[in-house]
Amino acid sequence: MRMWGGRFSGETDPLVAEATRSVEVDRLLALDDLDGSIAHVRGLERAALLTADESVTIVEGLRALRLEVEQGTLEWDPALEDVHMNLEAALTARIGSVAGKLHTGRSRNDQVALDLRLWLRRTVHDIDGDLLALERSLVDRAEREGDAIMPGMTHVQPAQPVLLAHHLLAYVEMLERDRGRFTDCARRADRSPLGAGALAGAGFPLDREATAADLGFAGVTANSLDAVSDRDFAVEFLAAAALAMVHLSRLAEELVWWSNPAFGWVVLSDAHATGSSMMPNKKNPDPCELIRGRAAKVAGDLAAMLGILKGLPLAYQRDLQEDKPPLFDAAAVLSSSLRVMAAVISGLTFRTDRMRDAALQGYVTATSVADALVERGLPFRVAHHVAGRLVADAERRGCRLDELADESFERALVVEEGPEAARLAAAAPTGLAEDLRAAATLEAAVARPRVTGGTAPERVREALEAARRRLGIEPA
Ligand code: ARG
Repeated sequence: MRMWGGRFSGETDPLVAEATRSVEVDRLLALDDLDGSIAHVRGLERAALLTADESVTIVEGLRALRLEVEQGTLEWDPALEDVHMNLEAALTARIGSVAGKLHTGRSRNDQVALDLRLWLRRTVHDIDGDLLALERSLVDRAEREGDAIMPGMTHVQPAQPVLLAHHLLAYVEMLERDRGRFTDCARRADRSPLGAGALAGAGFPLDREATAADLGFAGVTANSLDAVSDRDFAVEFLAAAALAMVHLSRLAEELVWWSNPAFGWVVLSDAHATGSSMMPNKKNPDPCELIRGRAAKVAGDLAAMLGILKGLPLAYQRDLQEDKPPLFDAAAVLSSSLRVMAAVISGLTFRTDRMRDAALQGYVTATSVADALVERGLPFRVAHHVAGRLVADAERRGCRLDELADESFERALVVEEGPEAARLAAAAPTGLAEDLRAAATLEAAVARPRVTGGTAPERVREALEAARRRLGIEPA
């Protein structure tokens, strides 16, 4: 018997049944659905819509179903459309007609909205754990690589030296904001829609607040029409997931480049790379590439959800059933990507010697030289010009900035822009060339950005300390 049988005499076209059912997807909500039903039964009993005996029978039946779902023994019937109808039918088969009282004052519209919010709460909890685990592996590596220097880049060109630890901690910042976004989303979703009914509100004096409290919600939704058709939380979840995947994708992209022998900055563990079916020499960063590719999928999940919602009038529309594939896909992809990335990071070998060599080659200390000239009284624009001339000179000679002879430094200071430059620079008490050569070393250049958030080793140590405290990691 169909649940809405009375109104209908004709059968559903099998083609339509096939095209509209969702049980293969929404059975993922089975445990949430059963938890929601158990709380609803208690609410019905409180409202004297069920006797104590009926309530016990139904709750025990629902608990037994919970066990079957957990053990994977419950048989799902595709003819029963969705997870809600499957579970109600299974309950009826086990406890008889009293099961027919379960759906009192409830619609699948508030039921599915409730299930999704329960799913979201536990999923955000799990993802938070995955985000934390990746943060921990990044902090651990940052800690272990100490003061190793790499050429920081802009436009993928050598720019200024930074600590490798500083680079890794940049991702910790991103992931920490991701955690904040998920927590925010879960906080707004922390309202029970149960009792909204189909759209107008349940026709019985249910204590919605008590049922919400039973389910661990902070409160109830305030408008029944909104409650059954709101999927803001799904959009927020997907936006947070899409952005977290973008962060992972950027890290993945860097590892793909860095593991190319031309960079040779990292060696992926054999456990996190794959070979080629034809080329015996290959060691490919496939896990990183797949994370990068799947970031697109999750961005697509967000676009799909926004598209589903934008044309919907109030209240529930069946289009909303299509919220589940993007949500479940995004959660699964993000969780697996976070775990894989944590493993990849933990298994990496950093070739800090190669990073240092690369840093020694790109004139990345030129800004430090310009800054040192500013300290001698030159206007920054003039100092910039002078340091640029030094770079050109070093390039011609095929040497590093800190290998230039005294004459090179003195000559570079004779510039039209600032006839007083040479006088200002030479007026300082200590030797000009000596000072500038010192400023041109990697150690001096990396130590200079001492501002909050800068790459100077003492700042990075503070950042590490703060991250360790936040993540509850013992100091090494
Ligand atoms: N499977 C449906 C969904 O996920 C459940 C709600 C169905 N409600 C309805 N009136 N057809 O949205």
